[in-house]
Amino acid sequence: MRLAKITERLSGLGSEKWAVHIEGRRRAALGEPLIFLSIGEPDAPPPAAILDEAEKQMRAGRIRYAEGRGEANARRALARVYTRQTGRAIHENQFIYLPGTQTALYAAMMTVCDMGDEVLMADPYYATYEGVIAAAGGVTVPVRVDPDHGFHLKAADLEKYITPKSRVLLMNTPSNPTGAVFTRSEIEKIGRLCEKHDLWIISDEVYATLTYGNTVFSSPFDVQELEKRTIVVSSISKSHAIPGFRSGWIAASAEFCDRCIPVTETMLFGSQPFIEDALAFALDNHFPELDAMKRDYEARARALVAALKGSAKVSARMPEGGMFIMVDVRKTGLSGEAFAHRLLEEEGVVTMPGESFGAGGSGHLRVALTVDEAQITEACKRIVRLAEKI
Ligand SMILES: Cc1ncc(COP(=O)(O)O)c(C=O)c1O
Repeated sequence: MRLAKITERLSGLGSEKWAVHIEGRRRAALGEPLIFLSIGEPDAPPPAAILDEAEKQMRAGRIRYAEGRGEANARRALARVYTRQTGRAIHENQFIYLPGTQTALYAAMMTVCDMGDEVLMADPYYATYEGVIAAAGGVTVPVRVDPDHGFHLKAADLEKYITPKSRVLLMNTPSNPTGAVFTRSEIEKIGRLCEKHDLWIISDEVYATLTYGNTVFSSPFDVQELEKRTIVVSSISKSHAIPGFRSGWIAASAEFCDRCIPVTETMLFGSQPFIEDALAFALDNHFPELDAMKRDYEARARALVAALKGSAKVSARMPEGGMFIMVDVRKTGLSGEAFAHRLLEEEGVVTMPGESFGAGGSGHLRVALTVDEAQITEACKRIVRLAEKI
């Protein structure tokens, strides 16, 4: 029987990106001892108090249908966070609670992107973006960013790709896979372009709390003039190491939220009240174990950079934020894909080829900072050994 066109638009956008990881999993199941650096799932447990709060609220009967835009306590907690962050009064009607950043991204894209509209984004980009844009019928317009300039998107490069069909800039800060974090001044420059060409900005900020060194996180939502065209999508999946809670949100203008709610309500008919209570609790409290988790990610990234330092063939720059680091293998003459396959085959290390995140990731591996320092250091030894052999 005939299926809808969306199935054609989405087919083939997924599996080959994961070929190295899937092969690694197959071998691991057969007993091969491998080091997995491919998946960005927090290895630290979430704060136990958040689980306790969810359980307490579930047992207290918070399992009925929730308000469509999200429970008031969750939206009020979000309003407190964003009022602090932006320095302006952000109201609870500027949020929609959704099960995770991915769902929020889908709902946001469906609300602003029509068939044939062009969506610009820095390349390399997060693996699901092409699918989200294709689902809405949009056209992906990747804008290559330069690895030798820390993978930062330049306004001048972006402008070259803007056409009358451009509708949305999809940005991600801190970035998965590159670790780049937009500075306030970059956001202001890019924001002026978005104003000039009347573009929406969807800003994926799922790694907002994970920045390293002197890096300061900034959002287009922080810039008052950009508030009305900015749609932030985020969650506590990474910040609180709790992806299975599927606990996220949209932050935008009240007008945008009012128009987006019919989209989210037709998808979901509300979320789980006890999980929303746990979100409010997570946002209203400070958990020292999350500071330790962040310090661990940073220490692992520094260990990786140090471990590759002596090599003439491979190198890595310290990420400014996020949970990943890009390893540059261009000097070996191999693509990221070829290197990643050989690394699995010859050294038992599973990474993601940079090309899985767009042509802009060519000649790189994406390494997740979600294993301990000893494993990272051992993996680096093997990466260097392979590189020297090539
Ligand atoms: C850039 C980016 N956006 C969104 C997501 C999905 O996040 P969530 O668990 O909140 O849906 C991820 C998960 O890895 C991600 O890396």
